[in-house]
Amino acid sequence: MKDYKIAPSILSADFSRLGEDVKKAVDAGADFVHFDVMDNHYVPNLTIGPLVCSALRSFGIKNIIDVHLMIKPVDRIIPDFAEAGANYITFHPEASDHIDRTIKLIRENNCMPGIVLNPATPLSYLEHCIDDIDMILLMSVNPGFPGQKFIEGTLKKISQARSLIDKSEREIRLEVDGGINLENISKIAKAGADTFVAGSAIFNSNNYSETVKSMRDKLKEIK
Ligand code: DX5
Ligand code: ZN
Repeated sequence: MKDYKIAPSILSADFSRLGEDVKKAVDAGADFVHFDVMDNHYVPNLTIGPLVCSALRSFGIKNIIDVHLMIKPVDRIIPDFAEAGANYITFHPEASDHIDRTIKLIRENNCMPGIVLNPATPLSYLEHCIDDIDMILLMSVNPGFPGQKFIEGTLKKISQARSLIDKSEREIRLEVDGGINLENISKIAKAGADTFVAGSAIFNSNNYSETVKSMRDKLKEIK
């Protein structure tokens, strides 16, 4: 079995008691904490920044924090997220004027860089940077909001991205973000993903442990 990771997006957590709710998700067996950063500029919504990331660390969250930057410009805030305890930092290449510089900046700050591609953003963005990144994040919804429907066309893109990763012979996580639930996680895994963002599917469920366990059971069946 692949080394699958489940990454609850805290966008759907209860912000009035964020630490406790995120702890509940990781105690339920989630692997990564997916941390959605929005600026009401690159995407039409506004969320949280490094202070909140650092607060989660102070609260005792020890899991990998996977920071998904939906902001423009990108670079200024990267050292702050590194300082706040981020592990992966992913960004949208359209939001950076100098993609290679942004990747290097993330690496220099001892975090793992990743590129995020929107549903209609081509994989060709990876051509000259795949050897320098640790994660490819494919959006399966348009970024900005939780609870949207998975865009089916992403499945083909996931397989294509998987081939690129295999060809690179590097360890690169293939994460998919948006509309993932118990009904579709198997086909997303079969297409080649190994890391699954799930916001509303986990945080809006009545029993986080049961939901995470059911997701893992589905992943165990993948050949
Ligand atoms: C969308 C965010 C996602 C989203 C996932 O812009 O990047 O992480 O919140 O939420 P669900 O799983 O509800 O689609
Ligand atoms: Zn996200």
